[in-house]
Amino acid sequence: MKGLILSGGKGTRLRPFTYTGAKQLVPVANKPVLFYAIEDLVEAGIREIGIVVGDTGEQVRAAVGDGARFGARVSYIEQDAPRGIAHGIKIARDFIGGDKFVLFLGDNFIRDGIAPQVAAFRDQTMNAQIILYRMSDPGAMGVAVLDGDRRVTQVIEKPKQFVSPYAVIGIYMFDSNVFEAVNAIQPSARGELEITDTIQYLIDHKFNVRAHLLEGWWIDTGKMSDILEANRLVLDVLDSKNEGQVDAASRIEGRVVLQKGAVVVNSTIRGPAIIGERTRIENAFVGPYTSIHHDCIVRNCEIEHSVVLESSQIVDAPARVADSLIGRNVQVGRADGHTKTLRMMIGDFSKVGL
Ligand code: DAU
Repeated sequence: MKGLILSGGKGTRLRPFTYTGAKQLVPVANKPVLFYAIEDLVEAGIREIGIVVGDTGEQVRAAVGDGARFGARVSYIEQDAPRGIAHGIKIARDFIGGDKFVLFLGDNFIRDGIAPQVAAFRDQTMNAQIILYRMSDPGAMGVAVLDGDRRVTQVIEKPKQFVSPYAVIGIYMFDSNVFEAVNAIQPSARGELEITDTIQYLIDHKFNVRAHLLEGWWIDTGKMSDILEANRLVLDVLDSKNEGQVDAASRIEGRVVLQKGAVVVNSTIRGPAIIGERTRIENAFVGPYTSIHHDCIVRNCEIEHSVVLESSQIVDAPARVADSLIGRNVQVGRADGHTKTLRMMIGDFSKVGL
């Protein structure tokens, strides 16, 4: 079996981060969301992986490379514009050949991996397998309607009214019959070749489409609150590790990961938390559920339940920073000599709560 990861698209809901960066590279516990997808595929025994990339392709290539460090062989497939998830399948025809494959949307995040579902799909005679996640309001997702025998009868993209509690998550398994479907369907009202129409085509043409109901958690990391939630969930299961330096005046409480070259001076870090490579924490408090990425400075301030991307500086912040997602190369602090003045350099479309 092969793996096909979609890592193009626009990422409008995660702006401003995604003006300059691929949304699939936003870190969760200091690791890009996309890397978890690659690891899930490798863990399920899939080593030949194609990644569909768009405008941010260069960054994705720079981050993932040839896949060797994941134990995979990664090749890249260019998509000229975000023409839909099913379009991503269409342009991967040569890469997939006649094999079965897993389609993994690069911003989807799942706790327990996909090994059992992949094994079932490899061994059994299904043409497609989708994974459902029960939620009270799945209206922002593809939604599956089941009949009395729990067979999928209908799949609808972002239905305006409640039709069923089963979201269709962004991890799908297909055999090569899916190419008949993606070649037959037409673009939707939003101008995309929809994955839901693809699945509906397979159902309508009597292909064997099975659904697996997921028990562990799943997150589509498309919004800021989702990134913070994913970060919380991963930090909750991370083991402590100290590859940095902590001075005698500092306290490390609970599960904390200090990555290579991290320096903690006269500070308290209360886990679960992760501090990135070469990051310096000085006269500061870092509270639970915080991930601070590489090459950052946090000095004379308090921060908790937040994700800070690389090379940012939070210095002399006059109030505790909480529930925040802070981008790359950001500077937050107090203006020189003015105790009540904040100095900020903030990109377009940012949100600041003071
Ligand atoms: O997350 C699950 C949901 O993903 C499903 O329930 C929906 O049925 C499915 O349509 C999709 O909905 P989204 O609105 O979340 O899709 P989004 O546009 O965010 O794209 C998902 C991923 O695929 C994202 O990593 C970007 C990538 N992508 C998307 C499109 C449309 C591409 O690489 N190329 C594309 O043309």
